[in-house]
Amino acid sequence: MSNLIAINPLTPEVWLIEKAVALLRAGGIVAFPTETVYGLGGDALNPVAIQKIFTAKQRPDWDPLIVHVTGIEMARTLTIDQPAAFEILANTFWPGPLTMVMRQASHVPKEITAGRDTVALRMPRHPVIAALLGTADLPIAAPSANLFGRPSPTCAQHVADDLGDTVDLILDGGRTPLGVESTVLDLTQHPAAILRPGGVAREHIEDVIGDIVVVAYGAESRVDEGLMSPGMSVKHYAPRAAMELFETAAVMEARATALKRDGKRVATIACDGNLEQYAHDLFALLRRFDDEQVDVILAEVPPPQGLGLAIRDRLQRASGLALG
Ligand code: TXA
Ligand code: MG
Repeated sequence: MSNLIAINPLTPEVWLIEKAVALLRAGGIVAFPTETVYGLGGDALNPVAIQKIFTAKQRPDWDPLIVHVTGIEMARTLTIDQPAAFEILANTFWPGPLTMVMRQASHVPKEITAGRDTVALRMPRHPVIAALLGTADLPIAAPSANLFGRPSPTCAQHVADDLGDTVDLILDGGRTPLGVESTVLDLTQHPAAILRPGGVAREHIEDVIGDIVVVAYGAESRVDEGLMSPGMSVKHYAPRAAMELFETAAVMEARATALKRDGKRVATIACDGNLEQYAHDLFALLRRFDDEQVDVILAEVPPPQGLGLAIRDRLQRASGLALG
């Protein structure tokens, strides 16, 4: 693909950053790696660029975008009434996979925030998006660079597969280190609420600001033995194959054996306790199983601590099943 160019993920080539920044300044849209997943970015203050992002992703206009910032100072220019927790959390977790929702300043385009009075902000850590932000000195709106409803992209080929040449440029910086998206924390609620568990663990946030709540798919859930019950309807990150979730490897293996006996093509995702590896590989596996035309994906669910909460959330959204 002519719009896909390799970039050094540790020390990005200056000429490539400048090329991408020129596109962003002209209202273009560029895909790039972040430490979580690939993002599809545009100038957050340019409604034309924002519209291109929604169109390329086929994203419904009610789903607001995250804005990536150079730091606390830029975040302040885009928001009002920042609570004290904002600066404490930003000093602790930025740059990194924590997105904070605050009340927006009036000049933030309504296209970004889907008509809400809040805006979601994060300062990313990956050298490529950090260099883009630093050079452009612009807030960059960037959702994950997948088609709406597909698993988030963790390598440049996923972006090319989903979006092709509807994107002006795809910077290929290899696999993204974390593999799941940022934690979205709503600071306009009291106590603060996790709207989407992600790369920063609930426990680490609570160490800094005390108790918070989790308003997410299966957040406070209990895992029962074996197959989980069908639940909430918001299916997302979805593979084409059917999915089933399991608490234990033994129950999962028995189910796999039974399905294979029935002539089904079965894939399994085991949890060996290494949650970093699980998160890193999850979305790529879901896409690969689709390519291999697997009929059923069986996944072992980790406990809801640390990165486990985010992995459980993504497995539930991918399967359409609710745990507990
Ligand atoms: O790790 C990430 O967050 C990646 C990388 C590219 O930074 N981005 C990402 O963006 O996952 P996206 O658009 O795929 O997910 C953004 C999530 C959505 O669930 C959206 O509804 C929520 O954040 N969100 C955005 N703005 C919001 C707001 N003002 N209030 C509540 N939720 C918001
Ligand atoms: Mg997304």
